[in-house]
Amino acid sequence: MRSNDFKKAGQIISQIKRNTNKSNTDNQMKPLNEFTKQELWKAFLKTFKEMYNKEFHEDKNVLNNLKPLFFYFLKDEKFFECENLRADISAPSFEKGFMIIGGYGLGKTDYMKVFQNIFKNYPNLRLKIYTSKELVHKYEICQTPLDKQSFIKDAERKLMFIDDISSERIASNYGHMDVIDEVLINRYDKNLITFVSCNYTTNNNCAKQTLQDLGLRYGGRMYDRFHEMFNIIEFKGSSFRR
Ligand SMILES: Nc1ncnc2c1ncn2[C@@H]1O[C@H](COP(=O)(O)OP(=O)(O)OP(=O)(O)O)[C@@H](O)[C@H]1O
Ligand SMILES: [Mg+2]
Repeated sequence: MRSNDFKKAGQIISQIKRNTNKSNTDNQMKPLNEFTKQELWKAFLKTFKEMYNKEFHEDKNVLNNLKPLFFYFLKDEKFFECENLRADISAPSFEKGFMIIGGYGLGKTDYMKVFQNIFKNYPNLRLKIYTSKELVHKYEICQTPLDKQSFIKDAERKLMFIDDISSERIASNYGHMDVIDEVLINRYDKNLITFVSCNYTTNNNCAKQTLQDLGLRYGGRMYDRFHEMFNIIEFKGSSFRR
């Protein structure tokens, strides 16, 4: 089952807490599955500050954007009630990964990098992040069939976040290849959990239309699979890049 690797998220995150807060917890061993969202929240704020050297700004939009990510990683049933989870577009499930759709500058990239950092020592949650452009470049510099094989192998890692899909161009390497399309289809076939982000494709910020446009970009075969691969999470608000 796809979600098996995540089932122990609460247990693993308990260990994170014990590791990062050892003096407090040495004498307070909690049952392994008792990790709370407050503890992940604390780790998130601390890591965000360390990585970007600034305070994390909280408002209603930010919290509504983040909640589904938190509850997803915690495997908390509250995930299914999140305002920004678009259950009307794709049936929510912990067996799927997620697609974040939203406007520019809302934290799609940086939040996922924070999670990557928090989870980096925990094999079941370890997340590799690529931008779609990096993947295209990585493919284009493959010189031999062996290089291509190792590219494919790398793209089969357990958990992967591909940032900014559909912003990439078609790869050119002795013929053309739609790298992201191929990577996603391969991951679908292998039942691997994938996370992606993309920006709205429309001026009126329509997530449904954006998904349809992704379907035009990657083709019907992929469009159909999007629903099986991804929960749809919409990020709302205005850009932090001011
Ligand atoms: N809640 C927040 N508090 C403070 N800074 C934030 C917050 N959310 C995002 N930022 C900052 O806003 C900037 C934009 O974030 P990020 O690059 O992750 O956005 P994005 O959604 O990936 O944008 P794009 O669609 O353009 O790729 C970054 O400098 C990030 O650190
Ligand atoms: Mg980004």
